[in-house]
Amino acid sequence: MCGIVGYIGNNAVAEELLSGLKSLEYRGYDSSGIALNDNRKIIVFKASGKLSNLNAVLHEKNVEDYSSFMGIGHIRWATHGAPSIENAHPHLSNDGNLVLVHNGIIENYKELRQKLQNQGVVFHSQTDTEAAVHLFAEEYKKCGSLEQAVRNGLPQLKGAFAFVIMHHAESDKIIAVRKNAPLIIGCGKNENYVASDIPALLGKVNHIIHLDDDEMAVVKKNEVIVKYINGQVVQKEMEKVDMAADVISKNGYAHFMLKEICEQPAILRRVIQSHVQNQTIYLDDAKINVDFDKVKKIVIVACGTSLHAALVAKKVWEEWLKLPVQVEAASEFIYQTNLLDENSLVIGVSQSGETADTITALKLAKKYQSQIMVLTNRVDSSIVRYASSIVPLNAGVEISVAATKSYMAQLVAFYWFGLLFAQKLNKISELDWQQKLQILIQLPEKIEEILSHQNDIESIAQRLTRYSAVVFMARGFNLPTAYEAALKLKEISYINANAYPAGELKHGPIALLDKNMPVLALFEQGQNAPKLLSNCEEAKARQAPVIGIGGEKCSDIFNEYIETPEVDACFSPLLLCVPVQLLAYFTAKALNREIDQPRNLAKSVTVE
Ligand code: AGP
Repeated sequence: MCGIVGYIGNNAVAEELLSGLKSLEYRGYDSSGIALNDNRKIIVFKASGKLSNLNAVLHEKNVEDYSSFMGIGHIRWATHGAPSIENAHPHLSNDGNLVLVHNGIIENYKELRQKLQNQGVVFHSQTDTEAAVHLFAEEYKKCGSLEQAVRNGLPQLKGAFAFVIMHHAESDKIIAVRKNAPLIIGCGKNENYVASDIPALLGKVNHIIHLDDDEMAVVKKNEVIVKYINGQVVQKEMEKVDMAADVISKNGYAHFMLKEICEQPAILRRVIQSHVQNQTIYLDDAKINVDFDKVKKIVIVACGTSLHAALVAKKVWEEWLKLPVQVEAASEFIYQTNLLDENSLVIGVSQSGETADTITALKLAKKYQSQIMVLTNRVDSSIVRYASSIVPLNAGVEISVAATKSYMAQLVAFYWFGLLFAQKLNKISELDWQQKLQILIQLPEKIEEILSHQNDIESIAQRLTRYSAVVFMARGFNLPTAYEAALKLKEISYINANAYPAGELKHGPIALLDKNMPVLALFEQGQNAPKLLSNCEEAKARQAPVIGIGGEKCSDIFNEYIETPEVDACFSPLLLCVPVQLLAYFTAKALNREIDQPRNLAKSVTVE
């Protein structure tokens, strides 16, 4: 996923573009660049690595000396071609007149590149994007109009793309085009913006226009005209920006990740209060069109952290609903034999709603006439187009690449739906339902109790930095929590963290254990605890340091212990995810990692 911005107005354009890119840094940070349409020509500035490197280049080149009031910008998460200056956007046509930035992937770029090279076009990068800029430039030579050139070129492109395009000769407009990648127009007073996502527009405009697929916007300083790619004008509603500018501020926290971890109790309270009136669950902001009677099979598809939330749902729903729940990594689901039909309910889970694997999996499910539901934190994202039922996570914008509050919101959504489905399918008594509801309602203060012990967790994390690899283990409802704990730790601290079912350790992984391989055990109440304790003893017998998280404090076994409030085993994933999020955060902090923007990662992976 990349971030793209555009500006046309009266302000110094470089500053406008840079601040927009700064707000989109979570979308990728391998390289960045801007292009200005100066009265004399198109000027391009690029830098590899972090956005601060581009800032330095602009400072060195005295960008403020350029009198330009329109420009485009890009921040990249590399798909085709290494993160280098040559591959950084914006990409310029060979005559230097047409320039563009792109988010998405051009699937037929190789054929296009070959065709253009046969026409004598010289390429300078390994990117798929460069094929588009030369294609539009060739079309411009034929028709002499940027809008028409883009319209003629688009049908020749296959894949997902959001483009922002400028031509030197048409210095009164920017063209924005959307197909399967998000793009928003920010409508100002005698100035207009284009951006991949709303954080780049916060505090700048009060009204926005969401472009839909196959729409093109001709953006001028005081006019925005939206058309279908075929040229027909589209009447679009201007929406009021309903997100506070401080959403993209750390509000005093050292990192967005810690801020978002600490927001979890408030998110839980808001979701519970908005969904429970008179002890009844309402999902008023959810669009539910599920024919529950038809549902004979449930399949959940997701990636990464969202996949771990789905694994928790499987354990909880199969216990509550007595229905088979299949969970698949979306990237596997796409290429395997899937036994779906009209009696299947396929649920896509995606914080960003732009994850290509998950979207492709839902497109496939649609072919089987399955009912499709999505749980997403971005109801303005691409994924909602493939679903007849949409459940907003309402976790607020999540900036840190490491998913935390959105994971909590996904879990809560799954528990809510478990209760709702159980009611619809008459699988739960009124008393049991009330008891479960009460447990959910009491969760926020239990999470606050864990958050109040951050210092204890931080000191354990500091000792964890001595190790290059660790093992998480659990049984029962928290096996997915162990997988999530391992993902969190590895993706932001770069420590090689892996997770196993505790009972599986003796079947091989125990060979890894020695004094240099700590084992972190996640305890829940009930029958699993004694078994897990003996797994800890097995680990200790191999000199592995053992850290207990939750459960009984067994000082003769545990080298370290993180206490958690008591809660019913079935609901414990909602609690135990918090200490492991904090452990990952403080370990990465002690190692001085780029916590909100870990190396090689992006907030949403929009390529398969
Ligand atoms: C989680 O911390 C990672 N950022 C990553 O695994 C993420 O969960 C995954 O890419 C799925 O993203 P999505 O929820 O936006 O689809």
